Amino acid sequence: MIRMSDIIKMAESSGLKKIGKEKNDEIISQDITNIAQKVEANRIEMAKLYNRGITLISDAFNQIRENKNIDFSQALDFTRTLLDTILIEGDEQLSGFYEIISADNYLPSHSMNVSILSTKIGMWLGLNKSELTELIASALFHDLGMIKVEDIVQKEGRLGMAERMKVEKHPEYSEEILRTTNYLNEEGLLSVKTHHYRGPRPRFSHIIGLADIYEAITHPRMYKKAKAPHKAIGEIIEKEGLSFQADVIKTFVNNIGVYPVGSWVKLSTGEIGIVIEANKGYPLSPKVHVMFNHLSEQIKNRKIVDFMKESYFYIEGPVDITEKEEAKSEAKNDENEDSLLKTWGSLSNS
Ligand SMILES: [Fe+2]
Ligand SMILES: [Fe+2]
Repeated sequence: MIRMSDIIKMAESSGLKKIGKEKNDEIISQDITNIAQKVEANRIEMAKLYNRGITLISDAFNQIRENKNIDFSQALDFTRTLLDTILIEGDEQLSGFYEIISADNYLPSHSMNVSILSTKIGMWLGLNKSELTELIASALFHDLGMIKVEDIVQKEGRLGMAERMKVEKHPEYSEEILRTTNYLNEEGLLSVKTHHYRGPRPRFSHIIGLADIYEAITHPRMYKKAKAPHKAIGEIIEKEGLSFQADVIKTFVNNIGVYPVGSWVKLSTGEIGIVIEANKGYPLSPKVHVMFNHLSEQIKNRKIVDFMKESYFYIEGPVDITEKEEAKSEAKNDENEDSLLKTWGSLSNS
């Protein structure tokens, strides 16, 4: 489904608003149709790319299960394509697929999400293209070693001490598998090996480790519910603030914002909206898609507020919908924005 917000954004970036008055209605409508088709075509391409990553990672897991060799040339080709796409198109469309996760594809989805998020952090830190390529290549397979302990992980009930220690060794297993190939350089290998370690370690390890915990906290697992993005940021700063290089965590928080994309926020007007974009360097002033009025009723003419430009009202704080996440993701999986709105509307009144 094509979202109106995407169409408006593309219309704005194509200059349509500025020239709109000089055009007749028919031409404007044709322009919007073209833009809508472009957005939809782009969305399909991004879905294909995301799914290509999932297939690649799933295949690698299967090859290890069957004691076969992994085709790392395909992985490197994918790494370059993913990086070029993010550098040229941005990650906005790709990030839309973060939520597509289920028990059976959790590990490949988690690995893809960590790769996309690591790339963003690397870009914010100013890494060059060859560093970013190595970073993505490492992030894609950081949890490859989990396959060696999957029988323990999938077991029901609490794990014993010996089992826990074996699961904690999965980064070492990842590194062992990857070291037998030419896929990663030494920094990549050590970063995979240390992605859960909190002592001195390579820079990529800090980036992948941070992306890893943020992704894990904001997504559901079999044993826990997802937490809202702003809660994840708070938890990371509180519990792990000193575990990462200061510039890595500072850059992450500054760019992702106090209200990360996907957070629900309440405005000083009583309206409720969802954060659709962070404003770099202004963590308290993101762009918000306002969807509900002060009575929690769905707004017919929804609007986008850029708090960098807004001085009459402000964001009062996050709206906690943690316990209602399941309904929200069901609505999202339908890829039906109206369904999401109806769900939130009814929940807000419950
Ligand atoms: Fe891990
Ligand atoms: Fe991980």
